[in-house]
Amino acid sequence: MSLAEIESLLTSEQHRADTEIVAMRTLNDLEALERSLLGKTAPASLVKAAFKDLDTKERPEAGKALGAFKHHVTVLLDARRQELAAAAAAQRIAEDRIDVTMPSRPRPLGHAHLIAQVREELEDLFIGMGYEVAEGPEVETDFYNFEALNMPASHPARSMWDTLYVDLGDPGEVLLRTHTSPVQVRVMQNRTPPLAVVAPGRCYRRDTLDARHSPVFHQLEGLVVGEGITFGDLAGTLESFTRAYFGPGITSRLRPSYFPFTEPSGEFDVTCIFCEGSGCSVCSQVGWIEIGGCGMVDPNVFEAVGYDPEQVTGFAFGFGLERMAQMRFGIDHIRAFFDNDVRFLEQF
Ligand code: DAH
Repeated sequence: MSLAEIESLLTSEQHRADTEIVAMRTLNDLEALERSLLGKTAPASLVKAAFKDLDTKERPEAGKALGAFKHHVTVLLDARRQELAAAAAAQRIAEDRIDVTMPSRPRPLGHAHLIAQVREELEDLFIGMGYEVAEGPEVETDFYNFEALNMPASHPARSMWDTLYVDLGDPGEVLLRTHTSPVQVRVMQNRTPPLAVVAPGRCYRRDTLDARHSPVFHQLEGLVVGEGITFGDLAGTLESFTRAYFGPGITSRLRPSYFPFTEPSGEFDVTCIFCEGSGCSVCSQVGWIEIGGCGMVDPNVFEAVGYDPEQVTGFAFGFGLERMAQMRFGIDHIRAFFDNDVRFLEQF
């Protein structure tokens, strides 16, 4: 082999290295290629044996060419080896990845309690009829709960409300409101007529729990004051409210009654939803169920808040929200509202 032949072989081997090394896809393939380029039986290694046939002056040149070839190929191999090793490592990491996140446990979303829903629906209904919504405190004074409502101390009508007193101030002065009627007084003290408000809220009585009574319950109070308000306005209001809330087929009626803060006073009934008026055990065969009290605001109440009873008249009403809900949804025991049994609550 002549020097020229050796050089041309090395050139072609280098050319092969240049194109093939970068094309290798795995470390194994790269190793095999390395053997074929630099191994003992590789063409470039075999040329060494031909050196002894060369002219002594040519030998260093052939050695240099071989060294340059080896260096060039080694650099390329190292670079490619590093690339493939890095890619292999990245792939191993990707494959070894373990997903330690857990599927989240869905939490059931709550919703408003049935009484809160009834309250909101009634508020909306009255707002639609031009009323505003008012609120008052649940811990009241004797003045607002009784006295300003035309029940001076030791008035016999006070016994209509079994009262829970709070151990605060003079004995008997602070109490848990027995009805929402004190809000009437607070509203009138702060406003001038004409006005139309509803006041929903929680009330308390020293009552024994039975199917229709609970020591804690809710009422909605209504009050309309202005010039020339009549009993006809009251009856019409209750009737349109009844139809709007209970739907067609259910109507209202008024019966004479007594409340110290209204004169005349009435109780209003609606058609029994269970028998639709024909008479059943729920309504004691009368076909009607009592919903609440109402009447024309007593002149003494107007005087207690500084209104002139010669100038204005008004009507008021109050009813229990639990009773409304029991009627509307056929719930036989008031306790269901306070038990907080989700099987009950989820139905609404
Ligand atoms: N406050 C009365 C009660 O709890 C209900 C009531 C009756 C409210 C007549 C009124 C009314 O506003 O005019 O028994």
